[in-house]
Amino acid sequence: MENGGADAGNPGRRKSSSVQTVFSTALHGIDGQIVTVESSGASSPEHRLEIIGLPDTAVKESAARVRSAARHLDIDLLPGKLTVNLAPADIRKEGTVYDLPILLSIIDGKALAGADLSDAVFVGELSLSGELRPISGALPMAIAAAKNGFRRFFCPAENAVEASAAPHIEVYPLHTVSDLLLHFGGAKPVSPLAFPGSSFLYRAYENAPDFSEIKGQETAKKALEVAAAGMHNALLIGPPGSGKSMLASRLPYILPPLTFDEALETSQIYSVAGLTDQLSPLLSRRPFRAPHHTISSAALVGGGTHVQPGEISFAHNGVLFLDEFPEFDQKALETMRQPLEERSVTISRVSGTATFPCSFMLVCAMNPCPCGYYGHPSRPCTCSPRARQSYLSKISGPLLDRIDIQVEVGALDFSDLDTAVAAESSEAVRARVGKARDFALARFDGQFLRNGSPLTANAFMEPQQVETFCVLSDKARDLLRQAFDRLGLSARGYTRLLKVARTVADFEESEVITHLHVATAVRLRSLDHKYFGTA
Ligand SMILES: Nc1ncnc2c1ncn2[C@@H]1O[C@H](COP(=O)(O)OP(=O)(O)OP(=O)(O)O)[C@@H](O)[C@H]1O
Ligand SMILES: [Mg+2]
Ligand SMILES: [Zn+2]
Repeated sequence: MENGGADAGNPGRRKSSSVQTVFSTALHGIDGQIVTVESSGASSPEHRLEIIGLPDTAVKESAARVRSAARHLDIDLLPGKLTVNLAPADIRKEGTVYDLPILLSIIDGKALAGADLSDAVFVGELSLSGELRPISGALPMAIAAAKNGFRRFFCPAENAVEASAAPHIEVYPLHTVSDLLLHFGGAKPVSPLAFPGSSFLYRAYENAPDFSEIKGQETAKKALEVAAAGMHNALLIGPPGSGKSMLASRLPYILPPLTFDEALETSQIYSVAGLTDQLSPLLSRRPFRAPHHTISSAALVGGGTHVQPGEISFAHNGVLFLDEFPEFDQKALETMRQPLEERSVTISRVSGTATFPCSFMLVCAMNPCPCGYYGHPSRPCTCSPRARQSYLSKISGPLLDRIDIQVEVGALDFSDLDTAVAAESSEAVRARVGKARDFALARFDGQFLRNGSPLTANAFMEPQQVETFCVLSDKARDLLRQAFDRLGLSARGYTRLLKVARTVADFEESEVITHLHVATAVRLRSLDHKYFGTA
């Protein structure tokens, strides 16, 4: 038991009929904490209920819902003036999840038939007639309960499938408060829900768009294959209709399948935002998020009064695709810079701070100029050099610096289109990507990032890990030095180039990075020079 938990922190429970303790949870981002809901009564001719312990408006209104639900279901509450304290008092309690535990904390002991609640956590909103209404965040709440040593999690039936994905805790679905009382009274026990195992993963690649549908573009495909193996950020540049959007949208299917832990972590983010698909509550596919370029910074990185995760977190363990990259608001893009480095984002509000993970692969697409045809073999570009320059300059240097791989998606030849030869399937590409990734993972065994997540891909390596794992041959070091000078790389650009070279070497299962691997990595980011005249 880490803290709170079944044996600790409930000194007064049931010693007198007027003090009862029930456990619930509060979330900060996807991190849950145990909240103790304790009541005390004072004899008074008028029946009153006061809630203390930094409640927000929704929690304060709980008193009215709880009283109405009890009246409707004929449940006896403790008499007199009741005070319910939500502890610890220094964290803000938000939302409607405390309705159920508050009701239980002030229920007349007889109704619970002496049931032991000390190993259970309760969450759920009540309707005025005592039905349980769904809440958001049930999955991270159940995970927090399990981590704190609790054995049972009681929640609204609609959230139960989602919560049942949490390991090491029994999840009890409730439709109404009566279900709970019949359960504790022994009249009609509620059965805990069994999670349907890892069957969710089998559907990961069903009915997916396939790489084989993309004709030509062999160089671009190879570049994306490397990007996928190391989770490197990539920029696709090319004229309209050459296949940029097609390539990007197929990326999730050449990535290795989500592991159970990755699925659990990403699903918690959707759970907090109330976006869980109840039929498939645990994500089975790597997320692919493609927000429109009019997106605000709050929607991109997270924010709002009741802090919500943003697109960068919904893309956690998957792909964030920014199509028409230069059209995005520069301010919004700038807010992404820090999270891109840290792989997590912390949002501060008066109500407290929330941290969400955001390890994702950033993929951007753009035309080379406003008309789209600069560099096209047959169609002339109609843009003035100034227009072209101002278009490209919308992409800030610091952001470009964070893009490891630049991919030219050129205009297709007629022969590319008019061919009977089928291109390689996603499955075949995925097999190579998976093999390279496995080679990296064996090296990363037991390695963690500063944010506490395990190290799962080359792009996520932190400086010390780059130092340890990027072993260069002498010739490779010489070539890297030349590239550094010639491309005018920043220190960050240098590290990123090294990580890409590491991934190229992983495809050959080579522990040492050779000059050939470095040469490939250099080639993969050479468009800077062609289009941007920088780096
Ligand atoms: N390489 C390709 N192989 C097969 N079909 C292609 C290819 N490229 C484009 N197409 C066809 O053209 C359509 C548009 O492609 P896509 O949206 O990927 O282009 P794009 O490069 O993103 O263009 P834009 O710059 O206008 O966004 C596709 O739906 C597909 O039908
Ligand atoms: Mg497109
Ligand atoms: Zn042009």
